[in-house]
Amino acid sequence: MTQFVPLCNSADLSDSGEAVPFDVTYCAQTCRAFAIRYQGQVYAYLNRCAHVPMELDYQPNRFFDSTGHWLMCATHGAIYQPQTGACRGGPCRGGLIKIDTSEFDGVVHWHTAHNLKSLEF
Ligand code: FES
Repeated sequence: MTQFVPLCNSADLSDSGEAVPFDVTYCAQTCRAFAIRYQGQVYAYLNRCAHVPMELDYQPNRFFDSTGHWLMCATHGAIYQPQTGACRGGPCRGGLIKIDTSEFDGVVHWHTAHNLKSLEF
């Protein structure tokens, strides 16, 4: 069953601004993930490039390129569409792995799925 996991306050995410990081279990592996806001909407992805499975951010929590319209991998410059995670340039094959989100009562939540769970301690 899908769970809505509280992540941050809505005000913590500004348009094309810094991401909020979080950890998930994806296919039984612990992975970093991140949420961003773009044109008012919140989106979240695994922090794993579709070229080589490395984290994308060139500085902690900075994923947008200088235009503020693309998510960019710091390692070899792959660029991704913020709304879908689809590759739009550079060496990526495929796109980012998307995590569903919702926003209500001033709080952003991410959604678990069959292969995506909260960390268990
Ligand atoms: S690892 Fe991201 S572009 Fe190569």
